[in-house]
Amino acid sequence: MEKNGSHNSDGKVNQHLAKGGKADASNGLRSLFVDELKDIYWAEKALTKALPKMIEKATSEELVEALEMHLEQTEEQVVRLEKVFEIISEKAEAKKCEAMAGLIKEAEEIMESTEEGVVRDAGIIAAGQKVEHYEIATYGTLCAFAKMIGESEAGSILHLTLTEEKAADEKLSEISDTINVEALAEN
Ligand SMILES: [Fe+2]
Ligand SMILES: [Fe+2]
Repeated sequence: MEKNGSHNSDGKVNQHLAKGGKADASNGLRSLFVDELKDIYWAEKALTKALPKMIEKATSEELVEALEMHLEQTEEQVVRLEKVFEIISEKAEAKKCEAMAGLIKEAEEIMESTEEGVVRDAGIIAAGQKVEHYEIATYGTLCAFAKMIGESEAGSILHLTLTEEKAADEKLSEISDTINVEALAEN
């Protein structure tokens, strides 16, 4: 005896149940996961090009050092994402991330509209933190999705990056404490 929809002779009830079934739902989440991976893959690659420009425009030694360190991490994060694609048997493909493109454009605008020194440094930190927050949101989601679809190895790798993004954000906050005071004194 059929458990569900046995009263339905044309099988429509069963078809409906299959559509909302677990296998289909996890496929949808999996493709969303892959899409998000492609998005952040593009974003990280774009950052490996944007960060050197920010380093070049920054004055504070502490800020330059923090950005240089994060550039190295970002290059590693790109490689890490390639590893994740490999683990989940997907081709490493970058899909333009409009949000990151916009954040990078804003960073460039801030650097163009300020004079070299502490005020520009404060602007670079502001732009940098927006980038970090975007990355934290993305990696947080990716870790949650990886767990849901049973990709625990991919999830642990993504979690390493999440930890680095959070630390980078905290470091920028710490540096801004001094920079903002100096920037205010410049007025
Ligand atoms: Fe990153
Ligand atoms: Fe980052």
